[in-house]
Amino acid sequence: MLAHHKGALSLALALSVVSAGLSLLQPMLINNIISSINQSPIAPLVWGLVGLLAVSSVVTMLQLYVMTVTAESAVLTTRKQLAARMLRLPIRVYDQHRAGDLVTRLGSDTTLIRAAFTGGLIDAIGGVVMMLGAVVLMALIDVMMLGIVLAVVLLTMLVVIGVSTFIQKYTKKAQAAVGELGADMDRALGAIRTIRSTGAESRVESGINADAHEAYDMGVMVAKIGAALRPATGLAMQGSFLVVLGIGGARVASGDISVADLVSFVLYLFMVSMPLGQIFGAITTVRQAMGAIERISEVMDEDPEPTTGATAQPARDITFDDVTFSYDGQTDVLKDVSFHIPAAKKTAFVGPSGSGKSTTLALMERFYDVDSGRILLGGQDTAGLSRASVRQTIGYVEQEAA
Ligand SMILES: Nc1ncnc2c1ncn2[C@@H]1O[C@H](COP(=O)(O)OP(=O)(O)O)[C@@H](O)[C@H]1O
Ligand SMILES: [Mg+2]
Repeated sequence: MLAHHKGALSLALALSVVSAGLSLLQPMLINNIISSINQSPIAPLVWGLVGLLAVSSVVTMLQLYVMTVTAESAVLTTRKQLAARMLRLPIRVYDQHRAGDLVTRLGSDTTLIRAAFTGGLIDAIGGVVMMLGAVVLMALIDVMMLGIVLAVVLLTMLVVIGVSTFIQKYTKKAQAAVGELGADMDRALGAIRTIRSTGAESRVESGINADAHEAYDMGVMVAKIGAALRPATGLAMQGSFLVVLGIGGARVASGDISVADLVSFVLYLFMVSMPLGQIFGAITTVRQAMGAIERISEVMDEDPEPTTGATAQPARDITFDDVTFSYDGQTDVLKDVSFHIPAAKKTAFVGPSGSGKSTTLALMERFYDVDSGRILLGGQDTAGLSRASVRQTIGYVEQEAA
């Protein structure tokens, strides 16, 4: 799925690494500016900083644009592939899936793929680059203070990763509920006249409301966990900020490091903590997207209906020769059925509901394959003919086509 977008992905990745690098340069320049005050002219350095900020903004802009467009085209490609497959599955597959659930996969699940891009993936990789760079630069300033910061960061990361598995779990459940919601509503709309004539609106409505509430409940669980995590991350980072200020202040007083170094260190500390939020967000959205991709793959993994077979020659009569067929492999719907429909005559099938009239026509169209026996189209066994040419030869309008 992502293979089509390798170029754009690499570009976005490269841009995010450049953007991270540019961000790392800023504290260095600020350090230089502070150290230069009262010693050498700082104007060139200030202009350098302004230039750096400008370039950095342009890179960020480009990065965001490339990423969002890549996400959109990933969604487009997936939707096109999915729609093409959904229209060409063997009829049996539609008997197994609920139409509304398939529609949800095409609409809402594909949208989650976009969120993985824009809501984190590439951003987080840039964030990791920035974190690593900041850690190296912090090590150059003060290893002991860095140790404290790393301890706090690692602890926070562990908590966040551990707790985010619950977010994934509840998000998955929410998606399943949305699929149910779509499927139930789709079925209700398909039978809307029956529902209205039997006054079943309220009963159907409460079923659909139950799906909506299930999605809501799962969303609330995600909100609770997310809300609890946010201040935890913030508190940890503020705590390490205060520790760094305290220890750093003492080290400045004792002359171990300069004020400029402490300022740079604190700026790097922010560069470590900011990506934490990004990475946390990425873990959630990427996991959501994985859930969605799983649902999409379930459809893409189904083989389309085969297109093989000879082309049917023009024919005007149909023969059923000892045809036996069952939907489930157990109960025969048609058993040893033989008849001949001559050309240029009107032929009627008459029988009670459920006796197999629609099934007979579905077999003529090769929507299903017979278990035994043959269906002949002007003497040609339809089993050896391509489905498309059989369907072209037989004009068929189904009951619900209205
Ligand atoms: N897609 C299907 N999957 C499983 N069973 C089916 C399916 N379609 C029809 N049936 C069953 O096959 C039998 C014949 O149905 P059908 O051919 O629709 O009858 P008719 O058109 O004469 O009313 C019924 O028992 C029905 O429940
Ligand atoms: Mg019927």
